[in-house]
Amino acid sequence: MNRKGIILAGGSGTRLFPVTMGISKQLLPIFDKPMIFYPISVLMLAGIREIAVITTADDQAQFQRLLGGGEQWGLSFTWIVQQSPDGLAQAYILAEGFLAGAPSAMVLGDNIFYGHGLPEMLARAGEKIDGGTVFGYHVADPERYGVFAYDAAGRVSAIVEKPKKPPSSYAVTGLYFLDGCAPARAHRVTPSARGELEIVSLLEMYLAEGQLEVERMGRGFAWLDTGTHESLLDAGNFVRTLQNRQGMQAGCLEEIAFQQGWIDRAMLAVRAELFSKNNYGRYLLAVLERADQ
Ligand code: TTP
Repeated sequence: MNRKGIILAGGSGTRLFPVTMGISKQLLPIFDKPMIFYPISVLMLAGIREIAVITTADDQAQFQRLLGGGEQWGLSFTWIVQQSPDGLAQAYILAEGFLAGAPSAMVLGDNIFYGHGLPEMLARAGEKIDGGTVFGYHVADPERYGVFAYDAAGRVSAIVEKPKKPPSSYAVTGLYFLDGCAPARAHRVTPSARGELEIVSLLEMYLAEGQLEVERMGRGFAWLDTGTHESLLDAGNFVRTLQNRQGMQAGCLEEIAFQQGWIDRAMLAVRAELFSKNNYGRYLLAVLERADQ
């Protein structure tokens, strides 16, 4: 059964108030693209074309205006509303019908991943049909995240949510490959003290059964989260610096779709024309010209 994708783009974005009082965080720009393009690009690089987008009820129409049905990228979107931000694990309950028993890759709508070897890493995780794979990333401030604890043999022994005394510097990133049992397991998660269905509780179920693979993303990867004003600006500057230096785009959905063979030249040309007034459009034209050589 094909792996399906979930983008969790609800939440309340309170740390970004007043910016996010009128618009969803995941629609804000990260330099030249809406934030949600970056997590979509990760799922596309993992070869996933069927994607559920989970948003708040208020924001759904704006996401639909931006993303449409997905055919411009060879994708198909299913729209799901999360009535209130009751936790990341709730996504699997909301998406149960969409998944219909399929394994999934879920990415948080405000997480950006970039690095050499990312497609290979995603492919490895995607091949694993039973159990789950999550990714650990070394951060300077682990107390803000779910953190991995390791035993003497270097195996992950526990995952601790926002620990005051972090057992390691490896945080759980917002990208989760889980098998078809994830919704059934999510139903067994009980709300935490802060009233949320915690993803860490769900992952601990997999861990307890020896079914959780933890891959480390090395220092060659960038994992950026964009939840504060500072980190939002940092992420935009990162993308700008990278793109200006390399002359290549990060999170360019048309380019990935074309490389995957999911859209043809004609669709790429239509998209290039749509953005012809800026660098994004000129870049798409260059992709088209390269393909013709
Ligand atoms: P958070 O950054 O934990 O929460 P938030 O986006 O509501 O922001 P704040 O803490 O400033 O209030 O969420 C991480 C990602 O997960 C983000 O993309 C929003 C999404 N999310 C949901 O879609 N539903 C939820 O129930 C939660 C908790 C988060």
